[in-house]
Amino acid sequence: MTTPTPQGTEMFSLAGKTVLLTGAGGAIGSVLARSLAACGATLGLQDLEEPKVSGLADEIRAAGGRAFTFGADLSGTDACAALVTDAHSAMGAINVLINCAGINRRKAIDDVTPDDFDAIVAVNMRAVYFLSQAVHPIMKAQGGGAIVNISSLSARYSFNTISVYAATKAAVTSMTRSFAREWVADGIRVNCIEPAVVQTEFTAPLWDDPKRSVWFKEFTPMGRLAQPQELVGAVIYLASEASSYVTGQSITIEGGILSGADWDANQDD
Ligand SMILES: NC(=O)c1ccc[n+]([C@@H]2O[C@H](COP(=O)([O-])OP(=O)(O)OC[C@H]3O[C@@H](n4cnc5c(N)ncnc54)[C@H](O)[C@@H]3O)[C@@H](O)[C@H]2O)c1
Repeated sequence: MTTPTPQGTEMFSLAGKTVLLTGAGGAIGSVLARSLAACGATLGLQDLEEPKVSGLADEIRAAGGRAFTFGADLSGTDACAALVTDAHSAMGAINVLINCAGINRRKAIDDVTPDDFDAIVAVNMRAVYFLSQAVHPIMKAQGGGAIVNISSLSARYSFNTISVYAATKAAVTSMTRSFAREWVADGIRVNCIEPAVVQTEFTAPLWDDPKRSVWFKEFTPMGRLAQPQELVGAVIYLASEASSYVTGQSITIEGGILSGADWDANQDD
């Protein structure tokens, strides 16, 4: 028997789906949360402290959606399994996990301390690994699920002062493939997005500097940075039935940076 194929925008619907979103109180996380709720998902909103997501949850509920809130420091060893247990018991299911929490400490390689290294690895890499591990039995028992990791263009294109961050994001893209391969038979799809610089507080030291701002405009074929809303379409696609045959993939969202160069740029004639 074949399953009826959803038609048109119905294939992007998340009605009846429960999404656990980490870093939901952040610039990108909060924009994703509102759009996922608008697609019908029930949201589990996690951030370091619950008050960081309580206003967002109220907003989603006021618009007719469903949202639960969770405070958890994902750099703690047991925090990931505990969050998944709490979210599962509160929401009754976890159909989609979106790993969006992340940190950076921009420093030259010579200045990076073991504490910097461990802190970035703990949130950006280890938490993604162990949150995914913790949702695996739940999704398997449910007959499948989707994991969407928020990686970064820095996984494949380096910039100075982000050596540890870039390494963790390359690890996230790599884990996306490994987890996709290992769990494909359980009906779990694992994909990621790799955005270039998005204009948020997280990256303010880059775009808020006049010289760097000009550099970014010239470096990016589209001539501007991404806005958080421009990540939403890819995440909804990867979370929904619209991408039912897609797993282990990265969608790079980068304004044309990887498309190549213009060898007539900056020439007078
Ligand atoms: N902004 C960009 O240019 C950009 C580009 C590519 C990828 N990303 C990725 O997108 C994600 C969101 O970035 P953003 O710009 O919204 O940053 P943000 O700082 O606004 O959001 C990150 C969220 O993660 C939470 N967080 C940090 N440490 C945590 C911890 N130990 N436990 C639980 N939660 C924790 C923060 O409280 C914050 O709300 C990150 O993974 C980031 O690496 C951002």
